[in-house]
Amino acid sequence: MRTSSPNELMMRLDRRASPPLRVQLEQQLRDGIRNGSLAPGMALPSTRALAAELAVSRGLVVEAYAQLGAEGYLVTRPGGATRISEAAAGGPAARSRAELPRAPRYDFRPGAPDVSLFPARAWLASVRRGLARAPHARFDYGDPRGAPELRVALAEYLGRVRGVVASPDSLVVTSGLAQGLVILTRALVARGAGSVGVEDPGSAPLWQQVAGAGLSIVPVPVDAGGVQVDRLGDLAAIVLTPAHQFPTGVVLAPDRRAGLLDWAARRGAVIVEDDYDAEYRYDRPPVGAMQGLDPRNVVYGGSVSKTLAPALRLGWLVVPDRLALDVAGQKAADDLGTPIVDQLALADFIARGELDRHLRASRLEYRRRRDAVVDALARRVPEARVGGIAAGLHVAVYLPEGTDESRVLEAARARDVGVFGLSEHRTGPGPPALLLGYGRIPVPAIDPGIRALSGAIDAAWAE
Ligand SMILES: Cc1ncc(COP(=O)(O)O)c(C=O)c1O
Repeated sequence: MRTSSPNELMMRLDRRASPPLRVQLEQQLRDGIRNGSLAPGMALPSTRALAAELAVSRGLVVEAYAQLGAEGYLVTRPGGATRISEAAAGGPAARSRAELPRAPRYDFRPGAPDVSLFPARAWLASVRRGLARAPHARFDYGDPRGAPELRVALAEYLGRVRGVVASPDSLVVTSGLAQGLVILTRALVARGAGSVGVEDPGSAPLWQQVAGAGLSIVPVPVDAGGVQVDRLGDLAAIVLTPAHQFPTGVVLAPDRRAGLLDWAARRGAVIVEDDYDAEYRYDRPPVGAMQGLDPRNVVYGGSVSKTLAPALRLGWLVVPDRLALDVAGQKAADDLGTPIVDQLALADFIARGELDRHLRASRLEYRRRRDAVVDALARRVPEARVGGIAAGLHVAVYLPEGTDESRVLEAARARDVGVFGLSEHRTGPGPPALLLGYGRIPVPAIDPGIRALSGAIDAAWAE
């Protein structure tokens, strides 16, 4: 893809305006990426060329590129141009599903459950029952935190399944975990927070949501034990995925859990526990949520996006007392509440044990798929190291040093294999690695899919 000229970016900096020039430049680039006028994959002008065009120092442009890199809007490969991230808002990930190209033959996209397993009949029965039993008052503007029926059912379910300490009053029902993170961010900003730690590697869409809602993100490195607690310093909050780190899949080590809780308690900092896919743990029962160990300093967030279907857009936050009013206020300010019919259906679905039943069946199916992926990788790509197999719906596949990750992705696409690279989820360089989801791919397609992927890896080396 060609490089844009400084002129084409149409950046206009206003020296009389109050935001500093660097902030103006960042905002204009961010807006351009979000509204699609700066296309995913496009190479930006060099820092020197853009600085000359805008008559600012080169350091200012370097800083702006670095900030947007940390937020996941830009990616820089060593020795290469800075480009708009493929995962950036306005890019393929944010476009409507209807616009997306057809699914590849071997669909290894991470973070996607098998929506064909959605228990539509049982859900329909829960919609009927939920509606039939609801008092008239439920159809009015209600408590922005959500229907009492659902908050009662969730408090019991999360306590039993995830060891979360929740009461109906500490729960806020949200439109997916995504909205939960946005309203929580706004509540933290309103209380004076300026920045938040995020995992690096981490979820690039999550970085964008948090940054878009007003907090600057500070990448905190992740290693084999999870996020490095000794790097938290004086941050006021950190968002992390302890049960199955996204994207590496590592489980937060017990000493790190203890260290994090200690850090938060000493500093009065907030730990935001993103429990996006923790119900899927294969080698033993899921490790309890961190929130259960210190409900005063941990905000817990989850959703049905991985267990039932992402399109339901149903999630929740369990909020410590000191943040409860602010978060409820932000939920009210955002949308006055989550659609009631879906809430009543989920309350009934949980209360009747349908969610447990669905999880038992789907966990078995995903375990079979995970085993097939791990087995096929061991036979067909023995030089790779596979990480993150204990839980969730994807594994991380580390390729031998020197492998060109982007070439592998290109060669895989040419073979109709849908895989993603780990570098989209890092702020700096790192070892070449792929994310291989098994939520969407049935067992019989896994071995042929990995065979095709192995061909793609060989082809990338041969180029
Ligand atoms: C790590 C992580 N956190 C949060 C989310 C948000 O999920 P949702 O808004 O669908 O609940 C996702 C979605 O894929 C995710 O991967």
